[in-house]
Amino acid sequence: MKINGKTRICGLIGNPVEHTLSPMIHNTLAQALGHDMVYVPLLVEAGRLKEAVAGAYALNLLGLNVTVPYKSQVIESLQEVDELARNIGAVNTLVRTEGGYKGYNTDMEGLYRAMTGEGIRIEGEQIILLGAGGAARAVAYLCAVKGAAKVYLLNRTLDKAQAVAREVNHAAGREVIVPMLLAAYANLPAGQYLAIQGTSVGLSPHVEDVVIADETFYEKIHTGFDLIYSPWETRFMQLVKANGGRAYNGLKMLLYQGIIAYELWNQVTVPEADVQVVYEKLKAHFTRTD
Ligand code: ATR
Repeated sequence: MKINGKTRICGLIGNPVEHTLSPMIHNTLAQALGHDMVYVPLLVEAGRLKEAVAGAYALNLLGLNVTVPYKSQVIESLQEVDELARNIGAVNTLVRTEGGYKGYNTDMEGLYRAMTGEGIRIEGEQIILLGAGGAARAVAYLCAVKGAAKVYLLNRTLDKAQAVAREVNHAAGREVIVPMLLAAYANLPAGQYLAIQGTSVGLSPHVEDVVIADETFYEKIHTGFDLIYSPWETRFMQLVKANGGRAYNGLKMLLYQGIIAYELWNQVTVPEADVQVVYEKLKAHFTRTD
């Protein structure tokens, strides 16, 4: 990669940022597609987010990704916010426009593209969503927007599931999210479900943990999608497979949130062959360090 007077800069703001794989995604794409762009991690200390966004704009940065803990807080520093990101209340991608940055949520579009690519449908589906934290809340919005028939939102703390359901149902204008206590999973109506695992349970190094251990639960699951990608195969995924379902990890979601951000910044469509190159690099990283 040759840096010159015309090289455009993109980066990731967050705290911490040192474990990010986004530079691998974006610099690989820039090289493969011949774009004069470089992507770097940019650590932003607590209390300095506003300054950082204004400074990035003043320095002519083309775009930014935003990670923990700034995905919601960054909204007040933006010129404009895309509708899905506004509803979710979280932004992970800033795109330079006249007068300021516009915010998007490519995490959710990325999840949608990852699912579509695997032939997983949301529209018309009966879905079980495990968790009601930041990630699960965004998935609940996505499912509502993309036309899920019903989403049973199971959480250890019922209050949180109820709060998410109230909010998403209100925004969707229909009773699509049904909050339930995690421990009451046996009360789920009979049927076959797509299950999305949106809690932090099972994340490396706690690879033996799983949010529901009872095998009978997994008999109801035709497809399991875990947002976790480290370990490569979570206990949740193993249980889905052991009971005859198909299971996917969250790596393609990570991949596609990056692809979509890259497309927004460079106003291109990334060819599938280049997506595959990046995927193989990411996969090698995780299968090597497991
Ligand atoms: P994120 O932003 O990644 O979603 P979060 O907002 O901290 O993280 O949410 C974590 C989710 O994992 C929550 O749904 C949490 O359940 P509670 O709302 O009851 O806290 C869930 N979670 C974490 N540890 C859990 C455990 N041991 N058993 C069940 N659920 C758990």
